[in-house]
Formats: sequence, structure tokens, C-alpha cells
Amino acid sequence: MTKKKEDSIVTKASNIMITKDKTNVDKKNTADKKDIEVKKNTADKKDIEVKKNTADKKNIEVKKNTAVKKNIEVKKNTAVKQNIEVKKNTAINKNIEVKKNTEDKKNTEDKKNTEDKKSIEDVNYKDKDKDKDKGKDNEKDKKHEKVKKHKKDKKHSKSKKHTKGKLDTKDIINTADEHLIHTYNRFQISMERGNGVYLYDSEGKRYLDFGAGIAVFALGYNNKAYNNALKSQIDKLIHTSNLFYNEPAAKAAKLVTEASGLDRVFFTNSGTEAIEGAIKLAKKYAFLKTGTTDSEIIAMNHSFHGRSMGALAVTGNKHYQEAFGPMVPGVKFADYNNLESVQALVNDKTCAIILETVQGEGGIYPAKEDFIKGVRKICDEKGILLILDEIQCGMGRTGTLFAYEQYGIKPDILTVAKALGCGVPVGAFLAKQEVANALVPGDHGTTYGGNPLVCAAVVKVFELFEELDLLNHVKKVSKYLEVQLDKLVDEVDVAVARRGLGLMQGLELSISPTNVINKALDDGLILFAAGSNVIRFVPPLIITEIDVDKMIEKLKRALV
Ligand SMILES: Cc1ncc(COP(=O)(O)O)c(C=O)c1O
Repeated sequence: MTKKKEDSIVTKASNIMITKDKTNVDKKNTADKKDIEVKKNTADKKDIEVKKNTADKKNIEVKKNTAVKKNIEVKKNTAVKQNIEVKKNTAINKNIEVKKNTEDKKNTEDKKNTEDKKSIEDVNYKDKDKDKDKGKDNEKDKKHEKVKKHKKDKKHSKSKKHTKGKLDTKDIINTADEHLIHTYNRFQISMERGNGVYLYDSEGKRYLDFGAGIAVFALGYNNKAYNNALKSQIDKLIHTSNLFYNEPAAKAAKLVTEASGLDRVFFTNSGTEAIEGAIKLAKKYAFLKTGTTDSEIIAMNHSFHGRSMGALAVTGNKHYQEAFGPMVPGVKFADYNNLESVQALVNDKTCAIILETVQGEGGIYPAKEDFIKGVRKICDEKGILLILDEIQCGMGRTGTLFAYEQYGIKPDILTVAKALGCGVPVGAFLAKQEVANALVPGDHGTTYGGNPLVCAAVVKVFELFEELDLLNHVKKVSKYLEVQLDKLVDEVDVAVARRGLGLMQGLELSISPTNVINKALDDGLILFAAGSNVIRFVPPLIITEIDVDKMIEKLKRALV
């Protein structure tokens, strides 16, 4: 019996009781009570029975469902495994698919080499006519795109939580998302290898890369001479500490100082550390001059110099600073390319003016000649140090090794990183002798900075720049890129303006670049944003005019 029924019996019994003769009330009450008690007990028992049965049933159902689910899972896994096996076998037999299984290393190598050869051909800018495989590539890309979309649509389940053996894309993403601090909104793509101007994801899809790891891979991916230089240094010596000398560091220091026209260099592990060092050097220099520590720095609005506390303090974007106060004191912000606004902030305490020769993150703004020359003049007149940040725009990106060369000026302190090592973590701050003298043993240091491995990379980068005549190549191919982007501005409504220097170009849009970038990515083209409305083009410096054409074609599709 249900609880409802039981309640109605109790109610009925109560009603009956009220209508009975008063003299019989007690007797009747007792009888009725007993009766109700019995009925109630029976009802309770039945109710318990029913509940128990229902619970049992539910339990059975749940167990059954779990069993069924497990069964499905097992079947699914088996099916997936079988599928993989079939694919694997087919690939081995036909030697078509790129092998991702470590057991099939030899096969993978064979296939990889074949693809590598093709890609190397793609990026050899001396080779003019390499567009025959375009149709095939499109078809391959479309196929991969379908698989990718399907995978994206499927909700990611929990990762397998293992790190041994090969992970598939889903597991790579899930494992990373479960364990990395969430400081990036990453594209749902895992990159596996690169070749020339192309990156390949873990599903084999190919991307034409106009981002170059954010202006890092000047030489393109998988440059054999560069790789071999690193491999041979790994076999010799990776690290010793800065308490010993090492040959690659000595060579790298000579190359970078001579090329920049500055006298001394300190190697760091990143761009932000190069900025930290530059700030410390400027402050120490001022301290030695004035005996005070209340020196000030003038930085630029919309600048970007990095994420460590010193670099953040001179980064002219409140959004980046907001949660991390108090900032290092004594920093004032002027407007980039506005000499009066700089002039207005100069006082006796100003020890340095820091600016990017081409603003990158702020939206690709090259310095105007009058501005940068004017700032240099102010610095000379007032004994202020000019710090130029060429972390993004340096190392050949603008067509000269350093962008300031094009303005006929030189900084007192220079910061470099990104393409300096073309992929290994190395940055540097450089200074003229008199300024560099301010730092003495104990003032600054780093465990890894300038170790033999990264310096071997720096040395090789300089050699290859020469060998490939890369600066002249950048001058030539960047002109072509400019013309094509200008055409796009004429043809496409949402493309508002182009600006930049060499192979550091920006396309200002009247719409947010996010959708355009995502569409391009689906179409196999990597582009990054700069600021809120600019698409940034910072490709490997080895790109060809053919690569530019391919990029424009994909970009046009993404813009409509
Ligand atoms: C101009 C400039 N300065 C400094 C940095 C910081 O360099 P890193 O990310 O290597 O610390 C960047 C990075 O994008 C940069 O573009």
C-alpha cells in the first residue's frame, strides 16, 4: 500500500470516530486506534516493501546500466583499438600514413623524411616554382579538417592520466588542461613538428605559419644545419653555470656585440629577463652617477616589455598590471610617436627612456623617424639612457639586423630575444662600454643564461643569416607582402589599413580579428592578433612570394 492510501485510511477512520455515540467513544477509540494501528503498520510494512522493491529495482537498474555502459565502453575501446590496428596495418602495408606509433619508428622515419623533403622544397625561397601539390594538399587538409571538427565536437572525456607512450590529441589537451596553470586560452590543437614555414599538428594537419612561434622561428622549422649544431653541442656540453667560460658563449657574445655596435652583452633566458637586466643596469648607472635610488623611467603607452615585475612596470597596458600592484615605482608613461608627451615627462630624475623600435603587441606601430631621433636627442642632451626593446622586431625581422639601423641611431642599452636563438630560450641585454661598466660581480646573474647549448644556437643563427643572405631576402619578400596586403585593404571592406616594417606587418580590421584568425586556422593558416583590432604577420624570415600568395588566398577566405 502506498503512503497516500494509508493516509486516506487514517483520515477516514478519524472521520468515522467523530460521528459515533459519545459513550462508545473511548471503546470505539481504542478499537479504531488498534484498527488504525494495524492498518497503519500494514501500510508501513507494505510501504517499506514497495520502497525496498523500488530501491532494489533501481539498484539492479543502475548496476545493469553500469554493466551495459562498461560493456559498451569495452566494446568501443576494442573497436577503437581494432580500428587503430587496421589503420596501422594499412599504413605499414601501403606506407602512406605518417606513423605515430613509437613501435613503428622506422616506418615513421621513412614517411617523415619523404614529407620533410617535400616541405624543404616548399620553403626553399631560391626555388621558384613549387606549387604543383597544391590540389593534393588542399584535399589532404580538408580531410584532416573533417576529422578535427569531429573530434572537436566530441566532448573531451577525462584524460587517461598517463605520460608514457604516445598520447592522442584529446589526451594531450586533457592532460595539459588538467595540470597546467590556466594562463593561456589555447587553440584546441597540439603541434607535433615543423618543417620550413609549415607546422604539423598531432593529427597530421599542415599549417602555413605566419606567426613563427610569435616572431621566433626566423630560420623556419627543422633547419638541418641549425638542428645539427644543437645536437652536436648537446653531445659535448649543455650547461656548466656561469662560473666557467665556454666557447659558444664567447663566440655568441662577439657576434652579437659586433653586429649591434654595442660593446657588452649579458645573456638571459627570455625577453622579459633581458628587460629586467636593462632596467637594473639603467638604475645602477644612475645610482653611480647621482648616489640616489629614486631614479625614474619613461615608458610608452601601449607598449609591451614582458610579464616579470620590472618588465610589467614599464608595460603601458593597465590590463596587464591591474592585479599585480604595487608596481615598481618611478615609471611614467608617454605616448608613442609623440615627442612632446615624452618631453613633458623628462626631469632631473629621469634615468632612462624605454621603447620598442616597432611596437608589437600594441598593434604593430613602427617608430616615426622624427620621434625616435627626437628621443635620442633628448637622451643625449640630458644624459638619459635610451633603451630600445628589439625583442620582437630585432634579428633581421625588419630587413636590417636591428630596426634602429634604419633610423640612423643607436641605443645605449638594447634588448633582444626571440629570433636570437630561433627557438631555444635565449635573450640578451647589451650596452655600450661606459654603461655596462656599472654592473660588477654580484650585481646580476642567472643560472642558465648564456649556457653552451643556447649560445651554440646563437652562433649558428648568425652563420645561417649570412649563408642564406637573409637580410636581403627579407627586404625583397617583405616588399611583396606589403603590396599584397595593400591590395587586400583596397579590395576587402573590413581591412582598414596596413602598417609595419619588413616582415613585421599589421593589418588593421574594422572587426575583431578573433573570428578571422580562427577561420584561417581551420583553413590551415596560422595568424596572431596584436592589440584588439590588428592581425599580425611575423612569419619565418625564409618565406617566399609563393608562401605570401598562399597566405593571402587563405586570409581572403577568412575575411569574408
Ligand atoms: C617587445 C617585447 N618585449 C618583451 C617581450 C617579452 O619576451 P618574453 O616573452 O621572451 O619574456 C616580448 C614578448 O612578446 C616582446 O614582444
